[in-house]
Amino acid sequence: MTLQYYLHRCGLAARRKVNAIIERGRVAVNGTVVREFWLSVNPDKDSVTVDGAPCRLPLGHHYYLFHKPRGLITSVSDPRGRQTVIDYVRKVHGLSEPLHPTGRLDKDTEGLLILTDDGDFTQKITHPSHEIPKVYVAVLKNEITDEQKRILESGIQIDGAMTAKAKLAKVRLEKKGLEGQPCWRITIHEGKKRQVRRMFEAVGTRVMYLRRDQIGSFTLKGIENPGQMRVINESELDDFRRVYF
Ligand code: URA
Repeated sequence: MTLQYYLHRCGLAARRKVNAIIERGRVAVNGTVVREFWLSVNPDKDSVTVDGAPCRLPLGHHYYLFHKPRGLITSVSDPRGRQTVIDYVRKVHGLSEPLHPTGRLDKDTEGLLILTDDGDFTQKITHPSHEIPKVYVAVLKNEITDEQKRILESGIQIDGAMTAKAKLAKVRLEKKGLEGQPCWRITIHEGKKRQVRRMFEAVGTRVMYLRRDQIGSFTLKGIENPGQMRVINESELDDFRRVYF
C-alpha cells in the first residue's frame, strides 16, 4: 500500500494532512526520511516512523469470505435454536473469533457472505450510500418477458419505495432438479429483506433457487462449494475499500 494510505490507516490523520506531514520530512521508512507519499510500503516488512516514533497498523480484525449453504440462518445466534452461519464456521472450520455476518442472506439462499469482527467495516458495507453491487443468480419458475425485464431493471415498488436500477442478464446454470428452468443474473445495489425474491414476485414469477455470487470485488472463486470459506487478505481488502468506501 502507499505510504500515505499506510499512515492514514495507522490513524495519523486524514489523507491530505498525511501528505503535508510526509512533505515536511517527518516520516522515515526503514530509517530513511522520505518525502514521496506514493511510495509503496509493506506493512509486514517495513518500519515506518513519524518524528522518530514507530507507526504501526492497529491490531488486525478478521475478514472471511464464506459460501453459505442453504438452511443456515444469517445471524450470530438464533432464539429458536436453528443453526446459524456462525455456529457452522465455529463447528466446521474451528473459528473462535467473535465474528458476525455483514448483511443478510435468507435461510433458503446460498452464496457469498462476508464474516468479520470489524463493526466499522460492517456499518460501511451495509450502508446503502456506498452502493456496493451484489450479484445473484436466480432460477425462476416461469420465464420473464422483455417488458418484465425492463420493469425489473428500471425499478419496482417494494415496501412502498422504488428499488434502485438493477441489471439483468440471461445465464445458463445446470442445477440438479431445476434443469431447463429460466435462469438470470441480477445485480442490485441495495439489501432490502428478500429483495431479489420479491422483485421477481412483483412481476409475476417465483425464484426457485437463489445464490449470491459477488459482493463488490469479492467473488466465490476458490470457495465454489457451499460450506467453504477463506481469509480475505490485506491487499484484497485495501482494493475493496479504495473502490467502495
Ligand atoms: N434477495 C433475496 O431475496 N434473498 C437473499 O437472501 C438476498 C437477496
